[in-house]
Amino acid sequence: KVIRKLDGRRELEQQLATVLAISRVTVVPGDCEQDDAVMRDIGHAAAQMLQGYIVPPCTVAVTGGSTMATLAEMMPRVISTQQVEVLPARGGLGERVELLANTIASQLADKLGGTYRMFHVPESLSKATVERLSKEPVIQEMAERIRRADIVVHGIGDALTMALRRQLDDDTVAILQSSGAVAEAFGYYFDAQGAIVYTMNTVGMRLEDLAEIDAVIAVAGGRAKGAAIRAASRAYQIDALVTDEGAARAILEFA
Ligand code: F6P
Repeated sequence: KVIRKLDGRRELEQQLATVLAISRVTVVPGDCEQDDAVMRDIGHAAAQMLQGYIVPPCTVAVTGGSTMATLAEMMPRVISTQQVEVLPARGGLGERVELLANTIASQLADKLGGTYRMFHVPESLSKATVERLSKEPVIQEMAERIRRADIVVHGIGDALTMALRRQLDDDTVAILQSSGAVAEAFGYYFDAQGAIVYTMNTVGMRLEDLAEIDAVIAVAGGRAKGAAIRAASRAYQIDALVTDEGAARAILEFA
């Protein structure tokens, strides 16, 4: 294994914590865009960060994406069972099965010796259908459970990258571009100031619920995500961030 070194790591973490107003920051050496091993280091550091917040009985809500999938993969297996329930933070957001929040919730629960629940809400429903669906007792019960989570662990993406990955239609992509969208998290798209410029139609965790959650952990790395992480930190309160040197340096360059 190659040991990557990062001189002045504590200072870098401290500077980021100040600039982003996030109390706990972990920066791993390198850039995950350049090197898959760095992504695994992020996953490992994020798994440790999450473990530090878990005090059973508790509920953890997770989002999807490759970073969160790596976190689940890198989480060490707990041998005994513990009262930890893992839930997807939102309904369908247009990801491949292996990157779905449902999939990640089940894998993480398995590692943690806990339980999980799935939330099957199809993506790309009309606003009216989502509104009707959210009134269904089973959906409502699940959405409330999610909103009462003790811990939320989530990924942050670059707005355009996510719009293309989700195959949003041309009109929506044009709206995102003209409104200066730079970040995406939880199905919300934000501009550089952290203002919401577009919201995907789905059910589950809402942005305003995050203020009530004890621990909101963000996990995102790579130079190209620097602007997105910064925008997200302005959009809602993040309590802990796990990132890499690539993103950290990009954030501080614009600070
Ligand atoms: O689609 C789920 C999600 O968590 C998004 O909210 C986020 O932008 C994205 O995945 C991050 O994906 P990745 O870790 O693959 O960059």
